[in-house]
Amino acid sequence: MHSTTTKSQRSGGVIKRYREFLPVSPATPIISLGEGSTPLIYSPRLSERVGRGCEIFVKNEGVNPTGSFKDRGMTVAVSKAMDQGTTALICASTGNTSASAAAYAARAGISCVVILPAGKIATGKLLQAFAYGAKIVAIDGNFDDALRIVRELGETGDFTIVNSINPDRIAGQKTAAFEIVDELGDAPDFHLLPVGNAGNITAYWAGYREYFASERSTKLPAMIGFQAIGAAPIFYDRIINEPETIASAIRIGNPASWQQALAAVVESQGAIDVVSDEDIIAAQSWLAQHEGIFVEPASAASIAGFFKCCDSADAAHSFQKIRETSRIVCTVTGHGLKDPDVIIGQMTELKPIAATVADVRRAIEL
Ligand code: F0G
Repeated sequence: MHSTTTKSQRSGGVIKRYREFLPVSPATPIISLGEGSTPLIYSPRLSERVGRGCEIFVKNEGVNPTGSFKDRGMTVAVSKAMDQGTTALICASTGNTSASAAAYAARAGISCVVILPAGKIATGKLLQAFAYGAKIVAIDGNFDDALRIVRELGETGDFTIVNSINPDRIAGQKTAAFEIVDELGDAPDFHLLPVGNAGNITAYWAGYREYFASERSTKLPAMIGFQAIGAAPIFYDRIINEPETIASAIRIGNPASWQQALAAVVESQGAIDVVSDEDIIAAQSWLAQHEGIFVEPASAASIAGFFKCCDSADAAHSFQKIRETSRIVCTVTGHGLKDPDVIIGQMTELKPIAATVADVRRAIEL
């Protein structure tokens, strides 16, 4: 396996890098903020945890232009929308889609309406939508209610919907799988990621299959998706009317791509599993403090899920007898600074001391 991608293609965003795999024509105006080409970070400590010569990598999607993986799909969706003469975007969101849509709309010079569940959007994400100049509407309802309204408004023809029910979003997001294969030289054996509306697991699976079909990889990974216990409709096989989790990005009770997610786990012989809020928060701190990667709680679901696969007898997919030298990729989907409230709650107050070396030495107990 080899990649012919040049450095300049990497810095030009996912359409420039993977145009041949994307639904764009030479006439499509490219609306890009330089998304994609995110780091795939080898993690010695996670690798140690599973043992057996296995290698674990973290795909850090939090370093995209608006701090989440959504930018990959947004560049394609907004470029195509411009091609079709759209003047306004609309989306429902738990926060990241709205931040991304708002940024790409600003870049394109069109307007953007975001419908959000009131009081359930992480501070940083709401701030982003505001800063990028979106028209923000908060509803007394959850994400599923917001998406229902967006679907109806989309039918009027006044807006282009940029949720992942728009196939251009999925097309863009599948480039993350391409990057992983390009970098590893083949597909990994397992791919772990958080699941909310289930667009991302759908997109990764499409990307892996497409690369496999074009003989850029020799195998396909088992896809293992993690939902938060209080918002796990796919795991429990029923709509959750009032989903609850600290990981507000994946607080979704009726995912739009439910069937596609199921197809991905069945076809790949993977699994859907659940992780608790406590385990998510513990994994978020662990990843920050042991690997230097600060992610938002929803993203830490893939790391919490990794630990569950290593340690727990009731994991949907155990790594205890994993084949030696397996490669595992965990996607972390969003930057930690987007959702500071949990960490702020853990911080102790800083009491200033005198500005002398002696006082500072005493404070750090040298
Ligand atoms: N991680 C983060 C940080 C997210 O923002 C989302 C989804 C997911 C994981 C789950 O991805 O929905 O493709 O299964 N956020 C959407 C939003 C719902 O509105 O920003 P998914």
